[in-house]
Amino acid sequence: MANTILVGAQWGDEGKGKIIDVLTESADIVVRTQGGNNAGHTVHMLGKKYILHLIPSGILRKKKTCVIGNGVVVDPVSLVSEIEGLRKLGIKIDGNLYLSETAHLVFPYHRELDSQREHLKGKNKIGTTKRGIGPAYGDKAARTGVRVIDLVNPERFRSQLETRIRENNEVLKAFGAKPLSFKQVHAEYRAAGDYLKPFVTNTVVLLHAAVRRGEDILFEGAQGTFLDIDHGTYPFVTSSNTTAGGACTGSGIPPHRMDRVVGVMKAYTTRVGEGPLPTENAEVADMLHGMGREFGATTGRPRRCGWFDSVATRHACMVNGIDELAVTNMDGLDSVETIQVCIGYRANGKRFDYVPNDVELLYRCQPVYAEFPGWRTPTHQARTWKDLPPKARSYLKALAELTGAKLAIASVGPGREQTIFV
Ligand code: IMP
Ligand code: MG
Repeated sequence: MANTILVGAQWGDEGKGKIIDVLTESADIVVRTQGGNNAGHTVHMLGKKYILHLIPSGILRKKKTCVIGNGVVVDPVSLVSEIEGLRKLGIKIDGNLYLSETAHLVFPYHRELDSQREHLKGKNKIGTTKRGIGPAYGDKAARTGVRVIDLVNPERFRSQLETRIRENNEVLKAFGAKPLSFKQVHAEYRAAGDYLKPFVTNTVVLLHAAVRRGEDILFEGAQGTFLDIDHGTYPFVTSSNTTAGGACTGSGIPPHRMDRVVGVMKAYTTRVGEGPLPTENAEVADMLHGMGREFGATTGRPRRCGWFDSVATRHACMVNGIDELAVTNMDGLDSVETIQVCIGYRANGKRFDYVPNDVELLYRCQPVYAEFPGWRTPTHQARTWKDLPPKARSYLKALAELTGAKLAIASVGPGREQTIFV
């Protein structure tokens, strides 16, 4: 299957965890390349539900190597508890997980600053996951970050952390927040450093050796295209490149070694946190929440919901170079009589067939809809293309045509077996 980049084509939570789990069957290595424990990938396996935050979903399959790449920001304490949690569930983590030496660390002051800044923004808040992701990437860009390679070098770590805590305590005090205790953070992080040491390596060298051996690598994206720091609805975005290019910079594998890009999208649209969502619709939200669906895996927040937005997914197709589409959550629309799909926006008397960069303009955009008849039949038992109701097939074909890529996978439920290869 060669080297595959998998990205979210909407606002995150497209069901990437499940598709990654399915595609992992034919991969040798699974790599996370951006984001941090703001992500929540839900995977259902053998009747159990696993929520992964930092560890690639490939960990749930035997004989797969999982890599946390240089582009990820790692909260080491939370990574330790994620490893421990999986081990308790009987997942083997020994020789199958590697952590990049050059990944940056997330500290308690990042989390505290994330909260303080959100609080200060008041009604203009971003609605972050408060995991400290933005401030950690901020330190990376400002060259004041501390990396995994430092964490496993006790002396260097002590002196770097001293400086960082001193500076950040001043900032926290200015916000009126409680300063942090160096001693406590140091003890916690050093313990995590010792625990993680066996996993730490030069992942660029490791991945290139795998490429030379002809192994197949799956680059698992976190969040989605419109949360990308460059291509998303700034400032209502996360702080990393969630689009395909992030897989290269976040792993050290160059673009011409990548063979295909798979874009995952829901059959409708959701978003957690603030920011524009042109097709947002209260009835769609009520219906999905009433089915017990669309609550955040990391924060438990109810997700905002709306109809499928083909203007947005077409844009995602363009910036990611999506070759193949995986459409998930088809079963979420099983009971809808008439399904709407956004095929354009209207604002200020003008029609848009692309996503405007001006967030204020995007807020004003009214969707132009095309209507599709619903299939009104449960689809969760469909296993092949032919099992799907004809109206569901027409709907999927329309989504692919409007988005501009080939339909490769349709998903009708959280289970591995609820996956239709087209
Ligand atoms: P942050 O990444 O915690 O800074 O949050 C920034 C924005 O990205 C907020 O709107 C979050 O809700 C959103 N976000 C971050 N991670 C995810 C995710 O994994 N799925 C969906 N939204 C996310
Ligand atoms: Mg998620």
